[in-house]
Amino acid sequence: QRPCVIWLTGLSDTGKSSIATALERLLVDQGCHTMLLDGDNIRHGLNRDLGFTEPDRIENIRRIGEVAKLMTGAGLIVITAFISPYRSDRDMVRQMFAGGDFFEVHVATPLEVCEQRDPKGLYRLARSGVIPNFTGINSPYEEPLQAELVLTTGNSQAIDDALAIIAMLRRCGKLQLTADQAVDRDFP
Ligand code: ADX
Repeated sequence: QRPCVIWLTGLSDTGKSSIATALERLLVDQGCHTMLLDGDNIRHGLNRDLGFTEPDRIENIRRIGEVAKLMTGAGLIVITAFISPYRSDRDMVRQMFAGGDFFEVHVATPLEVCEQRDPKGLYRLARSGVIPNFTGINSPYEEPLQAELVLTTGNSQAIDDALAIIAMLRRCGKLQLTADQAVDRDFP
């Protein structure tokens, strides 16, 4: 493996965390060393002092970028799953890494689908004005203009999206084929 960052971005409830978890499992199964950063392990710990105002979100993403940098420095493949709504913040993190080591993956599930899922009822609360600054409702989401990969399937299984990411990493030389896979490829 070659260390890199797979930076998932998209609205709340697009499926980022499920894709990230499926991806991590696939990578670990192939013997890769990985770290998954998401709201569960970051917003409850390192960033628990931050909320959802614009300055707080900027700081959230900045710290996550710095942590990802430390971890790739230790040789890990880092997967992150945050809304990261601002293009300038994602670009700022991209600049922290050598060219080709940062993969922006836009999980482009449409707002209507996310809002219909609404497992935590947050969209409903945002629509009724109880939650301010909710991304997609009363706070912006700036879509990537040149993501390395755009996942538009929305309703498909997370595993399919994870496999699409694996295929991208292979194409870019970040993952070696295992001996078995190489044999399968050479002698189908
Ligand atoms: S980010 O914008 O700073 O990147 P992050 O991914 O860490 O956001 O957290 C998003 C999650 O926090 C959402 O999936 C949702 O469950 C929860 N959340 C709580 N308040 C908000 C809000 N105002 N906007 C978006 N998500 C919120």
